[in-house]
Order: sequence, then structure tokens, then C-alpha cells
Amino acid sequence: MKELLATVKENKPIAKGIWSITLALPEPVGKIKGGQFANLSVGDASYPLKRPIGVCSVNGPDVTLCYQLKGDGTHKISQAKEGDKLSVLLPLGNGFDLGDAENIAVIGGGVGIFPLAAVIEEHAGKKNFRSYIGFRGKEYACLTEKFEKGGSLTIATDDGSIGFHGNAVQAFLSDYENIKCDLIISCGPPVMLRALKSALKERGIAVKCLVSLEERMGCGIGACLVCACKKSDGHNARVCKDGPVFDINEVEL
Ligand SMILES: Cc1cc2nc3c(=O)[nH]c(=O)nc-3n(C[C@H](O)[C@H](O)[C@H](O)COP(=O)(O)OP(=O)(O)OC[C@H]3O[C@@H](n4cnc5c(N)ncnc54)[C@H](O)[C@@H]3O)c2cc1C
Ligand code: FES
Repeated sequence: MKELLATVKENKPIAKGIWSITLALPEPVGKIKGGQFANLSVGDASYPLKRPIGVCSVNGPDVTLCYQLKGDGTHKISQAKEGDKLSVLLPLGNGFDLGDAENIAVIGGGVGIFPLAAVIEEHAGKKNFRSYIGFRGKEYACLTEKFEKGGSLTIATDDGSIGFHGNAVQAFLSDYENIKCDLIISCGPPVMLRALKSALKERGIAVKCLVSLEERMGCGIGACLVCACKKSDGHNARVCKDGPVFDINEVEL
């Protein structure tokens, strides 16, 4: 993990309220695994806290992060221009470890699709991915070509404007009997991960399932404990350092 002053190569909208920023890193940071994240400064000293954003794509010294405009921080990041310098700490967290799984079901909702796109990019051609990605409506859909490259893709929208009418978990469940999968990976809002956990339990689906969690963060490196989450065994874990990826049965959602 390194803290670097990266140069903005490109920063542009890719869907409604969603932007993509590509940063040129001044030096190598080693391998970045899908599911790892960056802590990105917003480029304004009056906002000392960096914002955690999943790495979406790596291309040589360039790293692309996709982000939803949410509050002040992400709006400030969207104002960064080509050539601007932003401080970034990366790679952070554990990332998804696919082990020897070959057929992987990918379930992503909203901004949760970005780190999942990085997993597919990392393992392209080596694993079969069956992806289910959910958006509020078609104007929010993005990066679908990245998921198609990994294998097959079902798009789900809450308003039914494209693809399956419903969310990504429902799309996965409606297809489950027809697919082969030895691992499930998922990232999305807490309500989606909770729905996934109860559906797997109710239906007796015993396939290993890894989920990436989102928590508010301070340091991003395991020192401040701002990001603690509850584990099923009663202990706490640091989402930034012990996660953000956990076995779904290991954490309280
Ligand atoms: C491991 C991880 C990976 C993430 N990956 C992505 C991604 O790829 N794309 C993306 O759009 N978003 C991602 N998020 C969420 C992103 O960090 C927040 O949307 C962002 O920090 C909001 O900042 P803001 O200043 O615009 O919003 P504000 O609401 O003004 O933020 C105020 C404070 O709360 C924190 N905060 C607000 N919402 C969240 C949240 N959902 N999770 C964590 N901290 C939050 C901010 O970092 C900031 O410190 C990720 C979060 C985590 C923890
Ligand atoms: S953000 Fe500081 S310990 Fe996780």
C-alpha cells in the first residue's frame, strides 16, 4: 500500500450521477486485486478525510475508479480536471479471493458493481462468470460490456426500464436452478446483501458466498476503528483492513 500523488488523466460522467476517474500513478503499487479499494482525496484541503472507492479497472500505471455523486466529497472529485493531482492511498483491503472456483455467480447492485467489474477484468478468460447487476433504471446502467466479457449477463432494473424487472438478487434467484456455480460474489447496498443472506438460508443454497461491505471510514488502513462491523461470532472486524470482503456467514448484515 502506498500514498501517492496521482495525475488525473480523465474524469467524465458515464451514466446518470455516475462518474469515472482515471488516475495515472507515478510509481507501481504492486498487484491490485478486484475488490480492493483506494482512499482518494477530494482535492480540497478543507476536506481532510479521503473517500473510499473500489478500484474498477487497472491498465498498467492507470487506475480507474467509478463513483456516484453523493455528497460534497464526490461532487468535489467530479470537478477534478485532466492534469490535476490528487492524493491517493492504494491498494487497500483484502479483495475477492476466488480460490479454485470455476463458475462464479456475480451479484451487484448500484455502486457495488464497480469492484465486481475489477474481479472480472482480473480473471478474464480464466473463470466463467454469470453476472446479475441491478440499477434503479436504464439511465443509471453502465459498464455492462465489462460484465458481458466475463461470460453472461442479466441486467435488472427496479423500474423494469431494461432487463429483468426487479433487483439483482431476485434476478439471480429466478435463474439459480438453471446455472452451475461454485462460488457467489456480491457487492451492493446493505439491504441487498441482507436479502441475499436470507434468501440463501431460506432456499438452503449452501454455495460459498463472499460479500464486500461498505462502512464509513477514517484512516482506511486499520488504525482508527471507525469502520468496525460485527462478526457472527460476536467479535468486531475492521472493514478496511480485515475486509471489505467477508464470507456472508461470517458477518452480521
Ligand atoms: C470499501 C468501499 C468501497 C466503495 N466503493 C465505492 C465505489 O466503487 N463507488 C462509489 O460510488 N462509492 C463507493 N463507496 C462509497 C463511497 O465511499 C461513498 O459514496 C463516498 O465516500 C461518499 O462521499 P461524499 O463526500 O460524496 O458523501 P457524504 O455523504 O457527504 O460523506 C460524508 C462522509 O461519510 C462517508 N460516507 C458516506 N457514504 C458512505 C458509504 N456509502 N460508504 C462509506 N463511507 C461513506 C464519506 O466517505 C465521508 O467521510 C465505497 C465505500 C467503501 C467503504
Ligand atoms: S477506517 Fe480506520 S480502521 Fe478502518
